[in-house]
Amino acid sequence: MGVAWMVAAAVAAVLASWAFNALVHLVWRPYAITRRFRAQGVRGPDYRFFTGSLGEIKRLRAEGAAVTLDVDDHDFIPMVQPHLRKWIALYGKTFVYWTGARPNVCVTDVNVVRQVLFDRTGLYPKNLMNPHISRLLGKGLVLTDGDDWKRHRKVVHPAFNMDKLKMMTATMSECARSMMSEWEAQLAKGGEVEIELSSRFEELTADVISHGVREQLRRGETGLPGAEGAPIPALKYLPTEKNLRTWKLDKQVRGMLMDIIKTRLANKDTAGYGNDLLGLMLEACAPEHGETPMLSMDEIIDECKTFFFAGHDTTSHLLTWASFLLSTHPEWQDRLREEVRRECGDEVPTGDALNKLKLVNMFLLETLRLYGPVSLIQRKTGSDLDLGGIRVPEGAILTIPIATIHRDKEVWGDAAGEFKPERFENGVTRAAKYPNALLSFSSGPRSCIGQNFAMIEAKAVVAMILQRFELELSPKYVHAPMDVITLRPRHGLPMLLRPL
Ligand code: HEM
Repeated sequence: MGVAWMVAAAVAAVLASWAFNALVHLVWRPYAITRRFRAQGVRGPDYRFFTGSLGEIKRLRAEGAAVTLDVDDHDFIPMVQPHLRKWIALYGKTFVYWTGARPNVCVTDVNVVRQVLFDRTGLYPKNLMNPHISRLLGKGLVLTDGDDWKRHRKVVHPAFNMDKLKMMTATMSECARSMMSEWEAQLAKGGEVEIELSSRFEELTADVISHGVREQLRRGETGLPGAEGAPIPALKYLPTEKNLRTWKLDKQVRGMLMDIIKTRLANKDTAGYGNDLLGLMLEACAPEHGETPMLSMDEIIDECKTFFFAGHDTTSHLLTWASFLLSTHPEWQDRLREEVRRECGDEVPTGDALNKLKLVNMFLLETLRLYGPVSLIQRKTGSDLDLGGIRVPEGAILTIPIATIHRDKEVWGDAAGEFKPERFENGVTRAAKYPNALLSFSSGPRSCIGQNFAMIEAKAVVAMILQRFELELSPKYVHAPMDVITLRPRHGLPMLLRPL
């Protein structure tokens, strides 16, 4: 046989094996898995070749994007998670749908959610949802698993202890004051002023995490898609337009962080590491003299990227939704202002004073329940396992739709859809029929490491706004929440501000 024949035979064998694998992966396996789930009583939309349920999700989302709500209607699920609303009604609380050819089990039963989130044995590793998000977050705390995650969490933990965070309050209020003096300057001309608050809060929270980063990191430039992912993960390696943009942004971010970090390390004896969160991180990561660093420079950079992307958008949208709810509930605006005046007077709030703002805290928790910036989290099954009495195969995605669970009447009672901060009067654990029902920061060992940081920042900014301004929603506002990794108002938050 000639060489050409041998090459042709080898190519044919490779193609045949590839076609066989594709057939198994894209046809046989999904049908076999569907059969096994059905035998256990778990139903869901039919698997469609290659795209699974992604086509239907896209279609339902596009329909949802055209909807707007009344300002007192908090049920944005038909816009943000319309597929889940539809399928829960058809198939019940636990069902299976398809992210491409991967089974995706939707888990909305709080007891089963608890089983997943409180596991400490590594049964449910993180699912790398969207390659663009993964690239920008880097291999920091959010996306690592196992021993790597333990090492990172241990190193970073001290940056978030309460004393350090109380010290950060000064930086937070300094940044907030500078933002508000711009508003005051506009108001000096008299009357009221209209300000688009959501973009202002984005700048503010970026500033608090790292001064100087915000100019370069306009997340809007990335055009990141939603969190459901693509049908084939391998697409992330192709030089598509979106990938090229993500790679370019990632390179810029790395270069910029590297510069900032090097300057801070070089000047640490004279200027310290800096009074923002990056400063605290560097202090926690930097080795004492002579010790080997716990994290390499690359890992520190990834961790900084993680903190930037995990921390600034989320907190800014919490502030956005809190301001929206303050303006649509004037009675709460008055009550909170009274509390702030009582505890802080006209002074810049200290860490201790913030601790005493009980009503503000309840208000923010209810904001997080109804408009939590993270509306969905995912895990995957690390092996074939039993989940809430159902046998789930290895590699299945587990979707925990926080926003949907936060509206479940069986968990939160008949008034689940209403804005009622008083439900948190006796603390988070007593607000619902289950102690771990509030999932805005997730729960268990992998819950948000930045939650106290975010709550302190949100309390400080809300208190400072209430000390200075009256908020009234602009008639231009359109109530259309959308989820682009985090939950935000589709058309921003134009707000009328009046001096007190
Ligand atoms: C309102 C603001 C915030 C919300 C709603 C929020 C929400 C969350 C949620 C739901 C998770 C779990 C993600 C998952 O399981 O896949 C998480 C994890 C995380 N968050 Fe936040 N977050 C906020 C603010 C912050 C801030 C300010 C920082 C840092 C400065 C931060 C850093 C992180 C990190 C590093 C993790 C991963 C923790 C781990 O896996 O050990 N977050 N956050």
